[in-house]
Amino acid sequence: MASTANHYETHSAETYEEAYFYEPGAYMSHLVDLVTQRMAFDDNEPRHMLDIGGGTGNFARALVENNNLRVTVIEPFLEEANNDKSDKVAFVKAPAEIFLSSHRDAWRKQPFHQILIKETIHHIDEKLRVDILKGIYNELQSFENYSTTPSILIVTRPQIEIDYPLWDAARQVWKENQPSLEQLISELESAGFVDIKYTVEKYGSSIPLDRWKRMVKNRFWSTFADFSDDELESGCELLAKERPPDEDGIIHFEDRLLFITGRKIS
Ligand SMILES: C[S@@+](CC[C@H](N)C(=O)[O-])C[C@H]1O[C@@H](n2cnc3c(N)ncnc32)[C@H](O)[C@@H]1O
Repeated sequence: MASTANHYETHSAETYEEAYFYEPGAYMSHLVDLVTQRMAFDDNEPRHMLDIGGGTGNFARALVENNNLRVTVIEPFLEEANNDKSDKVAFVKAPAEIFLSSHRDAWRKQPFHQILIKETIHHIDEKLRVDILKGIYNELQSFENYSTTPSILIVTRPQIEIDYPLWDAARQVWKENQPSLEQLISELESAGFVDIKYTVEKYGSSIPLDRWKRMVKNRFWSTFADFSDDELESGCELLAKERPPDEDGIIHFEDRLLFITGRKIS
């Protein structure tokens, strides 16, 4: 996806967090709970996790609030959000591609036990993904006397069978940019991960149509990055026709997230 850098660089922490999916609230709390379960965080076992493509770090901050956890956010484009800075969250300005090199900057010298890649895997060049995942796999550290083994969690959306209010041209772009579940599983296997499991997590969502249109016109997902303003304007008309709002101006849809986990053999 050629315009990912420009796309995220045009977002400030504020405009990014304005989008329904990334603001603190019930939806984010639900995801924090799901990630906490999948990662099997344990109060008796302090962990260090990398959140690759961790955005503004707000999701990491929500995770450390309730867990015995330190997170290093690896993020190439967005700036760290300037709220409630916690010494349990560190921020490194770098892309996932850094794992293609074995050179270790200071942050890479601290052992990390778990990896989160949330809503970011589709931004990593398909041709490089297995090598990046291998780089990550090689550096995951075992837990001494811990009940769990090092693991990765990829949170992403399905390539097809999505329910977001969109229009055909946007759905086509989505499909072209989003790797399939089967492809991601096979890439994790090629990188060495074992015990790969996945679930589809569904969340009934409601949002004022006007807000959704504003988010689309602000290009809140990179899906919209290459549409012109006029195309987004007519796309918003099409999506409203396809999914008319209720009497209160609200549209309803189902958010669907894939949670894919893999373990490193220890
Ligand atoms: C949809 S956002 C998700 C952010 C965060 N993980 C969350 O769930 O709130 C996608 C993120 O991927 C980051 N990104 C894009 N290309 C990347 C790359 N090559 N390596 C690491 N992160 C990347 C973007 O800057 C952006 O923060």
